[in-house]
Amino acid sequence: MTSTIYVLNGPNLNLLGKRQPEIYGRETLADVEIACLSQAESYGLQVRFLQSNAEHQLIDWIHEARDEAAAIIINPGAFTHTSIAILDALNAFEGQVIEVHISNVHKREEFRRHSYVSLRADGVIAGCGTQGYLLAIDRVAKLVTAAN
Ligand code: DQA
Repeated sequence: MTSTIYVLNGPNLNLLGKRQPEIYGRETLADVEIACLSQAESYGLQVRFLQSNAEHQLIDWIHEARDEAAAIIINPGAFTHTSIAILDALNAFEGQVIEVHISNVHKREEFRRHSYVSLRADGVIAGCGTQGYLLAIDRVAKLVTAAN
């Protein structure tokens, strides 16, 4: 079995660190990528860390992950709340799926409480800041090791 994890980031997450830092913090996505790579390495896992503002690109990466990845960690940004197409793509992926939100979406506007992605996700982490990505890697490492 492959030991690669796809970490996918949706729209506006390229602005992490600059965008609404009172909600999302001051760490940049590049900082998060470095932390994820190092956390995964400590478990002997590889990470492909990607970000796009385009729904079709995220869907194409999910399709690619069908052959390349044991797990997908995804922060779909606002597509969480709107995208049946991303849900359908994730439903075609057979590995573990962990949904991550930096902010606690349940403490915010009502429209953020619904997630299409949660209908597929095996685990959901919200409100733990960027540490949520590392917690997701811990979870994937446990599941992937148990499966091998
Ligand atoms: C987010 C929460 C979403 O509601 C929002 O649209 C984002 C980021 C988070 O990480 O907290 O872009 O996914």
